[in-house]
Amino acid sequence: MFLADNEMTNYDTILGRMVVDQRFCTEDEVRQCVEEKKKRAPDDPSTLEQILLDRRFVTSTQVGRLRNQIHESKDVSTQIPGYKILGKLGSGAMAVVYKAKQVSLDRTVAVKVLPKKFVQKSDYVERFYKEGRVAAKMNHNNIVQAIDVGEIGGLYYFVMEYVEGKTLYDDLSKGKIFNEDEAIDLILQLVSALAHAHSLGLIHRDVKPKNIMINKENVVKLADMGLARETSDIKAAKNEQGKAFGTPYYIAPEQIRGLVDIDGRADIYALGATLFHMVTGRVPFEASAPSEVMKKHLKEPLTPPDHINTALTAGISEVIEGMMTKDRNNRYRNMDELMTDLQAVREGRPPLLARQKFNVEALESLEEGMALETMVGDENMYSEELIGKYRMFVIILGVLSAMLGLAVLLLLILMLK
Ligand SMILES: Nc1ncnc2c1ncn2[C@@H]1O[C@H](COP(=O)(O)OP(=O)(O)OP(=O)(O)O)[C@@H](O)[C@H]1O
Ligand SMILES: [Mg+2]
Repeated sequence: MFLADNEMTNYDTILGRMVVDQRFCTEDEVRQCVEEKKKRAPDDPSTLEQILLDRRFVTSTQVGRLRNQIHESKDVSTQIPGYKILGKLGSGAMAVVYKAKQVSLDRTVAVKVLPKKFVQKSDYVERFYKEGRVAAKMNHNNIVQAIDVGEIGGLYYFVMEYVEGKTLYDDLSKGKIFNEDEAIDLILQLVSALAHAHSLGLIHRDVKPKNIMINKENVVKLADMGLARETSDIKAAKNEQGKAFGTPYYIAPEQIRGLVDIDGRADIYALGATLFHMVTGRVPFEASAPSEVMKKHLKEPLTPPDHINTALTAGISEVIEGMMTKDRNNRYRNMDELMTDLQAVREGRPPLLARQKFNVEALESLEEGMALETMVGDENMYSEELIGKYRMFVIILGVLSAMLGLAVLLLLILMLK
């Protein structure tokens, strides 16, 4: 990578990776600073940290925060018995993930560690353990395997299978647009993983590209299985404090509404939003603030994916629309239904279940049409009534004029006499 240089200190290397991971600056900006460091005279003591600060790519507060995290990682390496920390893999809203060696089995693992500042919050720790326990129940080739969970010296850690590869987010953030078959092949692996989870009564609730890993053999591994996103996260996002939780680009409308009976259909929506992003290159609903994105999930009609990428078949577009209906009652009911349609599209056949859904919608609009006709009919009846009244008026007028004529005739006869 861009930091694999002999001149870089270990601290610089970690810092360079972290400023990009935490989106303080771009990979390109770090690269520029690394180049500048190389150009400087060998006796120039400037560190990467100083150059980043000089160029105002990061603030001193941000650097201070990162320094603490790096020191914490050093704490971790000396504290977790049986594991040797090799480096940082990444960080998210809730934890930091390290690459480590499980000494007893001499294998590489990933260790998710809860930062100390969160440990005081008991619900946070509870959620951390919950993720470990739930993941431990899973046994599926497309789900990141849980290995161990524990606490030492106030640090909570969760050991899991190390996935050597990348996240789907890495690909998408580079602007990759997947071709239809490639996207379906990846999504089908997730459908299978989620079918397994759902069969055990477990809902993921946070399916998104950052939680989808792809290993070197192109096998998909779903991460963070069991990490329940509490409504408080959504509240935070609604209040615009949600930056730490990420923008809710993939969340189902019923989760935004804070429904408590979230079921597998929420995962279907999120997977649909992920597939939408993969084949169109953009998220389904974009806005500058998380709360605006959420409003759009609730209200704004979805642009059919084949309107954005015209190379897509109508079939995949219909499946995505079927996955992402706002009312979960109109969505695929379960992963088996979804798998049937996705496999059909993959084999060049029409997605029959989505079609049926659209037929239902067509029927609904037909019914609406009939209602409209009835209304038009009412108008016709109304007009006929008018004509009837008009006819009556004409008859009365005719009778009156006839009577008037008769009276005039009688008057003339009388006058002639
Ligand atoms: N089992 C693993 N093997 C290798 N790398 C991993 C593993 N689990 C997580 N990572 C890396 O660590 C990063 C941080 O993961 P984490 O789950 O803490 O946050 P996230 O999913 O990226 O974001 P968020 O907290 O918003 O959900 C991931 O983006 C990924 O790059
Ligand atoms: Mg994650």
